[in-house]
Amino acid sequence: MNETAIVIDKLTKKFEDVTAVDGLSLEVEKGELFGLLGPNGAGKTTTINVLCCIFEPTSGSVSVGGYDVRREPENVKELIGVCPQDTAVFSYLTGRENIELFGNLHTMPKEKLKKNTDELLERMGLSEDAKRRVGKYSGGMRRRINLIMALVHDPEIAFLDEPTVGMDPQSRRAVWDFIKDLKKQNKTVILTTHFMEEAEELCDRVGIIDYGKLIALGAPEQLKAKFGAKNLEEVFIQLTGRRIREEL
Ligand SMILES: Nc1ncnc2c1ncn2[C@@H]1O[C@H](COP(=O)(O)OP(=O)(O)O)[C@@H](O)[C@H]1O
Ligand SMILES: [Mg+2]
Repeated sequence: MNETAIVIDKLTKKFEDVTAVDGLSLEVEKGELFGLLGPNGAGKTTTINVLCCIFEPTSGSVSVGGYDVRREPENVKELIGVCPQDTAVFSYLTGRENIELFGNLHTMPKEKLKKNTDELLERMGLSEDAKRRVGKYSGGMRRRINLIMALVHDPEIAFLDEPTVGMDPQSRRAVWDFIKDLKKQNKTVILTTHFMEEAEELCDRVGIIDYGKLIALGAPEQLKAKFGAKNLEEVFIQLTGRRIREEL
């Protein structure tokens, strides 16, 4: 794999009457923890869905691990793990069965699957609950199981789409620690979030997007210094005149 893990070059993605991503260019280095930050509807999920070969670009090019998402999607899929924004779990299976199902899709050896599953369940505080059906879980527990499902095969590149939405502060903290560990293992992580504080806490660099366009790019500290802002929320307000979350 190249040292540059992801190259997005003038990506545009249109749906009938909506331009969800509008000429986005961005590079992410191997081992970088990169945050795609922006309000609801900014185009974060659409970008992730192109990166993981769910949607084809309308125009522009995207490569992941040196492979083109249009021409070499099978190679891309071997490298990545995806935690989707909308939790995708089978309610009638247990937590462990959900994870094993995904591990088997990646044709993991049985022992490795068991070892990784046990470790991840422990880290996420779900070892006991893993025996119960997911239908009985809270929303935060489902999110954590979904995260394990995305990462059980130990991918080089992880796409985590709003991984902490709906979590209580304690679970959020556990997930943050977990994401920091991915970085220690030199994994490349793209994280989307509309929580400015999450991006500040975790990310090496962030790309702030609005209406499908990149409006700022840099390390959180760099962006704060450049705009004389005390946090990324203030950077966003200065750039757009709006707050990132309506409810604030
Ligand atoms: N499958 C789709 N069909 C039509 N419009 C879509 C689809 N997916 C996303 N959009 C639109 O594209 C825009 C960007 O959405 P999205 O990428 O989900 O934003 P974010 O993840 O930043 O909240 C929104 O206007 C959304 O309504
Ligand atoms: Mg989204």
